[in-house]
Amino acid sequence: MPFPKKILMVDPSYYNVEYSINPFMQMNEKVDHEKAYAQWEMIKNAYLAQGLEVEILTGVEGLPDMVFCANPFFSHPNGILISQMRFEQRAKESEFFANYFKEKVIFQAKESFEGNGDLLWNYETMELFGGFGFRTKETIYPLIEKALGQSIVQLELISEDYYHLDTCLCILNAHTAAIVESAFSAESLAILKSKFSDIIYLDEREAKTSLAGNALSIDGRCVFVEKNALEFQKQLSARDFKVCVFDTSEYLKSGGSIFCMKNLIF
Ligand code: ARG
Repeated sequence: MPFPKKILMVDPSYYNVEYSINPFMQMNEKVDHEKAYAQWEMIKNAYLAQGLEVEILTGVEGLPDMVFCANPFFSHPNGILISQMRFEQRAKESEFFANYFKEKVIFQAKESFEGNGDLLWNYETMELFGGFGFRTKETIYPLIEKALGQSIVQLELISEDYYHLDTCLCILNAHTAAIVESAFSAESLAILKSKFSDIIYLDEREAKTSLAGNALSIDGRCVFVEKNALEFQKQLSARDFKVCVFDTSEYLKSGGSIFCMKNLIF
């Protein structure tokens, strides 16, 4: 199965940092809204330029994190899984998408599960990797496996800076992944090493300050990366990936970057 060609984004009209549910969200750091809009638009236009079909939804007032639309649902060729957000402040986002996808919904989480923030595809092998420990509960995965009729490689997250799997694991193509080593339990690290023959170890400082791991491989070749993740950009170029660089400074203030500001749709 190739990478999906359709991408969903939520515009940042109501984006803001209004509460703190992860270590990045510092209430004294104000979002520059004009800059945030321009940064989002750059990424959106780059998807269009890469030939992706982009579907834009208007943000909802009172849901300042809705721009991070990777989290409230997960897209699978069989249908849509609806998340149960770990924090009350984001609960209405998953309700919104349950309504939006209606009959396409095949699973509704009844315990914490944060969609494509914690459940990631290896699109080229169609394997699924599920992170747990902070936002998603380990116990949800057997239920999702049953609903999908597909097994999930489960990975334990142990560092609160990497609270979603998409902050510390970036699957680039069938056999290449970038990881933050300190984010995983020893057992999970061993699993990752057995699954990917080429592992890029992300610089810890870059991974933390620029969410380097929250990059997106759009087709196994072209990778969208945060502009300050310089070491990672070098590592990618050395492997012949095509690197597209974006400034996500305003979204880093909320603990998000490129990967979580979209959701690829089958
Ligand atoms: N402020 C959001 C939260 O804490 C950021 C989500 C970022 N998403 C991600 N998949 N890393 O929920």
